[in-house]
Amino acid sequence: MNKDFLWGAALSNVQAEGGYLEDGKGLNVYDTLEISFETGQSTLSDTTVAADHYHHYKEDIAHMKEMGFTAYRFSIVWSRIHPQGDDGKTNEAGLAYYEDMIDELLKAGIEPVVSLVHFDMPDYLRVHYNGFMDRRVVDFYADHVAVVAKRFKDKVKYWITYNEVNTASFGPRLVAGAQQPENMSDAQFHATLTHHTQLAHAKAVLAIKKENPNAMVSGMDAYGSIYPFTCKPEDVQAARFADNMNNNLTFDVMVNGEYPSYYLAYLQNKGVDFNHPQDELDIIKEASQKLDFLAFSYYQSLVVKAPEGIEDPLEVQDYLLFGAREKLSNPYVTANEWGWQIDPMGLRYALDTLYERYHKPLFIVENGIGIDDQLTEDKKVYDDDRISYYQGHIKNISDAIELDGVEMIGYLAWAPIDFLSSHKEMRKRYGFVFIDRYDDGTGTLARYPKKSYYWYKKVIASQGKDLENDIEY
Ligand code: BG6
Repeated sequence: MNKDFLWGAALSNVQAEGGYLEDGKGLNVYDTLEISFETGQSTLSDTTVAADHYHHYKEDIAHMKEMGFTAYRFSIVWSRIHPQGDDGKTNEAGLAYYEDMIDELLKAGIEPVVSLVHFDMPDYLRVHYNGFMDRRVVDFYADHVAVVAKRFKDKVKYWITYNEVNTASFGPRLVAGAQQPENMSDAQFHATLTHHTQLAHAKAVLAIKKENPNAMVSGMDAYGSIYPFTCKPEDVQAARFADNMNNNLTFDVMVNGEYPSYYLAYLQNKGVDFNHPQDELDIIKEASQKLDFLAFSYYQSLVVKAPEGIEDPLEVQDYLLFGAREKLSNPYVTANEWGWQIDPMGLRYALDTLYERYHKPLFIVENGIGIDDQLTEDKKVYDDDRISYYQGHIKNISDAIELDGVEMIGYLAWAPIDFLSSHKEMRKRYGFVFIDRYDDGTGTLARYPKKSYYWYKKVIASQGKDLENDIEY
């Protein structure tokens, strides 16, 4: 990696901050999320304290500096800035809080990479508008982004408009504050949310560029490389459809400024009303011309197989998109405790595919592994499995750059510190720094660097060349 390559990690602030309703913050969709169990855990932490990053951010940034980060991605929580979301009332204390955080980063020589809307929509907009299902929320969001962009235009260069926007209709409550209305078809719900979130992304791009034409702006997808289960043509076609709808659709719109033919054909076949005012389509087009790079998260690859016994091609598509698609194991890779398949070469595959398709610089803004790390008596965490996960993934990034000619901005691991998972689980830890906090609400909140902390520090210092796990810890 060259010397301009950005190294660091990323965090979702609602999952880490705590500071529940402090300093005028409003409730958001993550605060009110009823937990669902990923692996049958019985007691879970809540967002009132989380990792208490709200009060420890200076200490946490000091750790990032010590590791040698040159970039750090975090999210400005929408409900801290606009607690209700629809009344134009801006909470100055929220802006001041993030300004201080940004200043602290700049002082440490760390480039802030700001995410907008990362599970943090004011809950009021979910309850009273059904989130991004309501067109008016797109404008509330655009107004919010305009306020944030204006405030930080001289301090923040890298912006991500919408975390994992391609998951909006698959995790609608958390990602878009929305619920599928009764009597609305799956396809119509998908189409409406896709359009509104794409419009929101586009308006955010324009709002940021209006404040600072030199800002570097991107949309973001959750990318999981998709393989056909076998080389049977039906499986290959099924994998292609799943790949288009899950991975490519949103980037296709963001980059090309129009809906791709495979999506329009799908909606037409499903009888979905997909006519939009010309000015909205123009906004999407204009934003596509101003997009600077593509940001994505990568955790795992997936395997897709054509369903048995379904002949009708439209039913096959429904099954692949909305049906209880089997979670198939790939026999060639391993998985973590939560069943997330560990496939480092899948990251190279993702980078190559995205670069070949879009010709935009790529920025990995999330990549990591959840592990139930254990703190020893002498306050150590030997997380060699995490080191091994990163070794494989960083090696494949080098290969994508050096062997395949991919252009990249940087790499942000997930995450600098432990925090609550998207299922509000503290036990599923991702950090380089262990947070002494447990799902039953106990713990001192003290911070302890894990073994991977020192390993990653060495990786950054060597620009990704020295991946050996030879740390004395
Ligand atoms: C990404 C999200 O989808 O995955 C993060 O952007 C999330 O917010 C991460 O934490 C890991 O998923 P999980 O469910 O293990 O927290």
